This record gives sequence, C-alpha cells and structure tokens, in this order.
Amino acid sequence: MGKQLWNKGFDPDANIENFTVGRDRELDLRLARYDVQGSMAHIRMLEHIGLLSADELQLLLPALQDILDSIERGEFVIEDGVEDVHSQVELLLTSRLGSVGKKIHSGRSRNDQVLVDLKLFFRDELKRISEAVSRLFDRLTSLSEEHRDKLMPGYTHLQVAMPSSFGLWFGAYAESLTDDMFMIIAAYETANQNPLGSAAGYGSSFPLDREMTTRLLGFDRPHYNVVAAQMSRGKTERAVAAAVAAVASTLGHLAMDVCMWMCGNFRFISFPDNLTTGSSIMPHKKNPDVFEIMRGKCNRLQSIPNELALLTANLPLGYNRDLQLMKDILFPATSELVECLDMADFMLSHISVRADILDDPQYDYIFTVEDVNRLVLEGMPFRDAYREVGVAVQEGRYRPTRSVSHTHLGSIGNPANDRIRAKMADLLARLK
Ligand code: ARG
Repeated sequence: MGKQLWNKGFDPDANIENFTVGRDRELDLRLARYDVQGSMAHIRMLEHIGLLSADELQLLLPALQDILDSIERGEFVIEDGVEDVHSQVELLLTSRLGSVGKKIHSGRSRNDQVLVDLKLFFRDELKRISEAVSRLFDRLTSLSEEHRDKLMPGYTHLQVAMPSSFGLWFGAYAESLTDDMFMIIAAYETANQNPLGSAAGYGSSFPLDREMTTRLLGFDRPHYNVVAAQMSRGKTERAVAAAVAAVASTLGHLAMDVCMWMCGNFRFISFPDNLTTGSSIMPHKKNPDVFEIMRGKCNRLQSIPNELALLTANLPLGYNRDLQLMKDILFPATSELVECLDMADFMLSHISVRADILDDPQYDYIFTVEDVNRLVLEGMPFRDAYREVGVAVQEGRYRPTRSVSHTHLGSIGNPANDRIRAKMADLLARLK
C-alpha cells in the first residue's frame, strides 16, 4: 500500500505519482525545519483548546524535536513513495508513536502547512539575502572612502561627460542597495503573517486559536481571512521575487560596469591574474568571466517575477496544485542571488583602480563645465561663460584647469557615505 496521506485503499499509478510530485522530494528538504516548527506550534495550540491531552503533547513534542535535530544534522530524507515533507514528518511521527502521531493533523491541511513553511522559509531567506547585501554594502562604502579622491570620467549617452570619481561610483552602488532593501523589507512584511488555521483554505470547525500560533511562530499578525491567507500563496512569492530581482538588477549593472572598465580600451580597474580567466587561443587574454557569469545570472534572476506572474495568472480562487511549481522557480533563485552577492564582495576585495585616468588628454573636455562654473563664480553670467569656453573648444584653444571642486551633499567632494551608512543601518534594523 502506498504511503500517501490521502491513501484510501488503492495506489495511484506510478507515472502519475512521479509527474505530480516533481522535484518536491528534493526541494521540500529546505522546508523541513519549518514544517516541524509549524507542527510544534500547532500541537501546542491543539492542547490549549483541548483537542490533545497534556500527556499526548508531552509525547509528541520530544518526538518532533528529535526530527528537528535529525534535520539540523542533515540526516532527514523524504523517502521514495512519500509525497512531500508534510507527509514524511507525519509518517515518522506515526511510525514512532502510533495513533497519537495521527492526531496532529486535526484542524489543518497541507495547504496551510506548506503556506506556513514557505513564509517561515522566506523570512529566513530574506534575512540571508539582506546579510549578503549588507556585506557587499560595507565593502562598497569602504572602497568609496578609500578611493574617494580618484577621479574617473562620468558618461551620458556613453559619451564622456563630466568628472566623476571612484568614491561616487562605489558609493552609488552602495546606496542603490539601500533602495533594494526597501523591497526586501516589503517582501519580509508580506511574508510575516500567519496563515496557519486557514486549513485547506476555508478554515475549520475546530475552535482554533490562531493568535496563539501567531505568537508561537513569531509572526507579526495572522493573515486573518482564511481565503486571503490561501491567496497569499503566490502573492508572497511574487513579493520575494521582486526583491530578488531588484538586488539582481543592481548587481547586474555593477557587473556590466566592471566588464567595461576592465576592457583594454578603458583599463580603469583590474584584478589579480588568478581572478581572471584566459583564452584557449589568444595567449594575452585576461577575461572578466566572473562578472559575465554574474551579469548573466542577474539578468536571469530578473525574469523570475515574470515567470511567477505567468504561472499564477488567472488561477481559480483557492488551492491549485500549480502553486507547487513556484518552489522550482524561487528556491534556486534566492541561493543564486546570495552566491552572486558573495562573489561580488570577494572580487571587489581584490580590485585595483587607476588614479591618473583623467590626466590623459582624451579627457580634457571633461573639465569644460568646471571651467564654465569657475568663470560664473568669478562673476560672469552663465551664458557668457558657456560661450567663452565653447568658443575656446571650437577653436582648439581650450586648456583645462583640471581642478574639480564639488562640495554639495552627495557630490564628489562630499559623497555622504556616513548618511548612506545610517540609512542602511536603519533598514537592516527593521528585519531584526
Ligand atoms: N506539495 C504541495 C504544494 O507544494 C503540498 C500541498 C498539497 N496539497 C494538496 N491539496 N494536494 O503545494
């Protein structure tokens, strides 16, 4: 006889079983610890409302703790013939404790169980992402300080425009990560609501104490309406995916800059030889493959909100098995993002930047705006100053003064890294 929780005396066709279980046996391992935590909260509540005796609770809790310990030791597996993590935990309990193990499912369904697991899992994944974001942020702000006064060209339309600096460049990506933190926080708050007690999606005739499980699981509040709780499957994933995509977009952009500025025509930055890759035919090559792979991965990660939107568009209200497939999309994505963030941090810990870039005469015109502004500060109306410098350029007489004096908030001379750090610290504190 098969091991399905819903087995009613006949076995499903093996092909059907494989097709519907899909990658759950592997992916659900990441949910295992949360599944047990959810069960612990649920049975404490069942005891509180009189559906389990104190003695039964005292048998069940240590047995669940044993399963939790085996998960932490990496020994937990989902056996062949068992559909998913929820079934495996319940089967382990019943095989150890007999019929008392069968009591824990009163007042819940795998539909709210998987919702709880996912929300607890996403909370932790979002924290893990924010820690990796924070490490890269620290790296970027300290590089910004270290190279604060080294000038580089700023571009508009990919044409040389005005002086910029490595202080601004590194600091810009740091502050851009704070924007992404707003998205991470939004996803975290969406996930931080308790669906337990919504059962199959329409509640239960047992007098479940949903405030109690909310407290026990450390959720901010219940997802009150049981139908809304079920609807949050998909909505939560899309919020998490939007946060992942936001960080990926920042990181992909950084990776592109690095590829371009390592190019021999720019040579603004470089990395030690052993962090670059070679060519099988051109002996001189030192390629930025790390940042190309990062750019590619980050571009793919930005497709995930779309994939989830298409997967969930126009589903009928209530649970539908399609929802299971979101795990295939999102679970690998959060890990891949953390991997990219950590790789960026590692690579940047070895970056060298050129200090004398703007001494090259090809960048002389980058100082025209500085020189116009200097004339204005000496009293000349802006249009006259613009014309004087413009005519000098036109007639080939322009010679840059090469002095850059930007002092306002957020500019080359005052990149405001202390303020940006304070902003990030505030945002990180909201995930504690
Ligand atoms: N593996 C399922 C999922 O991820 C668990 C819930 C199963 N519920 C059901 N009604 N078949 O959605």
